[in-house]
Amino acid sequence: MDHFLYRDGRLHAEDVDLSQVAAEVGTPFYCYSTATLTRHFQLFDDALSWGPHLVCFAVKSASNVALLRVLARLGAGMDVVSGGEYLRATAAGVPGERIVFSGVGKTREEMRLALEGGVRQINVESEPELAALSEVAALMGAVAPIALRVNPDVDARTHEKIATGRKEDKFGVPLSRAREIYAEAARLPGVEVVGIDVHIGSQLTDLAPFEAAYLKVAELTRALRADGHDIRRLDLGGGLGIPYTRSNEPPPLPADYGALIERTVGDLGCEIEIEPGRLISGNAGILVSRVVYVKEGEGRRFLILDAGMNDLIRPAMYGAHHDIVPLAEPAPGAETREHDVVGPVCESGDTFARARALPPLAEGDLVAFRSAGAYGAVMSSEYNSRPLVPEVLVDGHHVAVIRPRPTFDEMIGRDTIPPWLA
Ligand code: LLP
Repeated sequence: MDHFLYRDGRLHAEDVDLSQVAAEVGTPFYCYSTATLTRHFQLFDDALSWGPHLVCFAVKSASNVALLRVLARLGAGMDVVSGGEYLRATAAGVPGERIVFSGVGKTREEMRLALEGGVRQINVESEPELAALSEVAALMGAVAPIALRVNPDVDARTHEKIATGRKEDKFGVPLSRAREIYAEAARLPGVEVVGIDVHIGSQLTDLAPFEAAYLKVAELTRALRADGHDIRRLDLGGGLGIPYTRSNEPPPLPADYGALIERTVGDLGCEIEIEPGRLISGNAGILVSRVVYVKEGEGRRFLILDAGMNDLIRPAMYGAHHDIVPLAEPAPGAETREHDVVGPVCESGDTFARARALPPLAEGDLVAFRSAGAYGAVMSSEYNSRPLVPEVLVDGHHVAVIRPRPTFDEMIGRDTIPPWLA
């Protein structure tokens, strides 16, 4: 459920007519709906209302500071994976005690940054990281609260590139070694064990892998407590999938997921943390683009858009499906034709969809990619020297540009010519 609906034959974001935004901002642009973001955050918050919990939004999925501010005001925590994301979260007004820091390759500088600014917990992914963190914290006269990310060797049954919980994946420490590494952590001066962390992948459309992983976490919690560790928090990661298309069976709801958490780890008396990204931001954002040309190829019709793979890389990178809808509502029962929807970038990979049934579209028409709020703008680049796409936020009838489109001068002006070439 989202707030991008047709009204009077035109696609709106809440109360705002998107073709008007296109006229003012130019295309392509990303547009987000505050009501949708809010609703999806609240679904998770409600799903965990049976006990103490913190919903930590995965900043990597959509990191504009204005979006983070919307969530911060609702009481969200943040899951960050870099110094840059940590600073975005604090710029949005999120206090350190609501920020968890994840990631396999945190540098000592990033550790220092988080410890100085305050951090709820650092999710440690390896023994060398544990040693480095203890050293950094001890030098600062600090003690870092930590959870160890365990790798439960569970197949999330999702796209190969976004599964993270199998033993061949680079993430976490093997479950079989967890007790030994926790014992090591307990001996180190600069860290304090507060919990366990697990994250098995993204865009999961089935609860069974979560269940398998969380049951292993429950068993580990009991074993670690028996070893004398004060396990008081469980960070259960993110990963619940969203419906990218209306024709498939929808994935489980946050309420089902919350009930599963209660069933698997609810009796342990731990505070629950989760790190959802996509389910909060995915359907809260769209990418609006204009048709540049309709080209009749041999036996194919190409719809050439002004958005390219540099603006939305998910179809090229994961073969991902995004629904594409015209901004002008097609008449009921309007005929459709098959289109190959492509961008202007000089690679055949710059293809958003093959043989997609769409109503007839002409040069200048506007279309929207739905479900583009997560891993859309954040993964965009300036490939082919195409300036980063602007972002717009809507709240009711309010509309604001929350990241302007850079000018060509700004883009090119970042390069500098060394003196010997001047
Ligand atoms: N926590 C950790 C430690 C993660 O690595 C991730 C995602 C999340 C939470 C949030 O997962 P979510 O709830 O959004 O599924 N670029 C890919 C997705 C990469 C996900 C990476 N990690 C895509 O466009 O599908």
